[in-house]
Amino acid sequence: MNQTGQTQDELKTLVAQAALKHVVPGEYLGVGTGSTVNKFIDALAASGLNIKAAVSSSNASTERMLSLGLPVVALTQVERIAVYIDGADEIDAKGFMVKGGGAALTREKIVAAQADKFVCIADVSKRVAVLGRFPLPVEVIPMAAPQLIRQFAAMGGKASLRQSNGQALLTDNGQQILDVVGLQITDPLGFENTVSQWPGVVTVGVFAHQRAHVCLLGTAQGVQTLVYD
Ligand code: A5P
Repeated sequence: MNQTGQTQDELKTLVAQAALKHVVPGEYLGVGTGSTVNKFIDALAASGLNIKAAVSSSNASTERMLSLGLPVVALTQVERIAVYIDGADEIDAKGFMVKGGGAALTREKIVAAQADKFVCIADVSKRVAVLGRFPLPVEVIPMAAPQLIRQFAAMGGKASLRQSNGQALLTDNGQQILDVVGLQITDPLGFENTVSQWPGVVTVGVFAHQRAHVCLLGTAQGVQTLVYD
């Protein structure tokens, strides 16, 4: 709870509601994944806004949207997405993000790359000076995981395989997630370029090339709109 008594959950609700203003009626809308996006999906369904269809970044978001009667199409059916709306685990002063806490980073990056504009919705706890406070998610091909753990160790990070119910978690793409702690990502573009080229990496959770254009940040003073150059 913050000084004005709002919980993190309430701040997520505020930014989810504020994101409705960024939906372009009649156009395709990219929809991310996570607890903040779930609130956005609920707000979108309740708003009656008329979108052409949503393009989803995960099975979980697809199921939620369909259950609320929102139209969803495959990305393969779409050439251009007007806006992509998604949360983040961390966001810095330039709109660079860490994402993937919900294990959906690969599809999130693919959908974001096809959108004209990325609107990040986040509560103030996600704002950081330097990326690396939150464990960095990396989706990997399982056979490469031990070698990739050694490569992260060589750069000062400690990587571990994400677990679910006592087993390695499998993503929507049937791959695994490494969570890496101990990194200070001072050059997000360079870091994303480097790690993306390691054999066995499917997607690194640094969103530098697909950074946010706008962030709706939920704070004790209300929703701040941050626009990045
Ligand atoms: C999902 O894979 C993530 O990229 C989410 O966008 C991120 O973890 C933020 O999630 P919350 O909105 O649940 O904090």
